[in-house]
Amino acid sequence: MSPTRTAEHPIQAQFTERWSPRAFTGEALPLATLQSLFEAARWAPSAFNAQPWRFVYGLAGTPAFATLFDTLAPANQAWAHRAGALVAVISATQFTAACKTEPQALGSHAFDAGAAWALLALQAQALGWHTHAMGGFDRDRLRTALGVPETHALQAMVAIGRLGDAATLPEALRAREVPSPRRPQTEWAAEGRFSFGG
Ligand SMILES: Cc1cc2nc3c(=O)[nH]c(=O)nc-3n(C[C@H](O)[C@H](O)[C@H](O)COP(=O)(O)O)c2cc1C
Repeated sequence: MSPTRTAEHPIQAQFTERWSPRAFTGEALPLATLQSLFEAARWAPSAFNAQPWRFVYGLAGTPAFATLFDTLAPANQAWAHRAGALVAVISATQFTAACKTEPQALGSHAFDAGAAWALLALQAQALGWHTHAMGGFDRDRLRTALGVPETHALQAMVAIGRLGDAATLPEALRAREVPSPRRPQTEWAAEGRFSFGG
């Protein structure tokens, strides 16, 4: 793995090995593999075990892929066209407890959907695929195109693919096609008191 991905403390290699490339081969992600990725997401923890994550996917070469792709920002379309699948990550902002009839707000919906996406990404990496989350997409267009009700929030789009050759990328992206480093723990973990500045 890249020297930029050195752990400060002992961890399993899966965490530093996962990274988000933009160069994909264009190989379509088999549905069965995508279902394994969703299966990993399925076991994420969530408040009240409400499991508020929702995924809408399109496999490469299908109309569903084209629908999702059309909503991406041009800067993301420039490389995501070679993804093997696109997945919209959506979260339910309300849930109805087993003992209730009315839905209640679910304050943790984004946190829980984030946990599910992280497990999906790690499972993809373990199976020889890469993921790349994107916040750059047109939320109004995606909501309309997929028919997402207002009770649900659009969190991110995810490209999944086989790692390709960086030479296939637009020139501006080629130099960025390296696993990124991380800030040291001392900048964001502290004992007992918030001591990170405003
Ligand atoms: C919510 C979210 C939104 C992101 N949006 C974009 C995006 O629009 N375009 C892009 O190229 N990368 C995007 N990224 C990728 C991040 O830049 C990347 O995950 C980060 O730099 C860490 O690198 P790594 O995933 O390779 O470890 C996004 C990641 C996340 C989690």
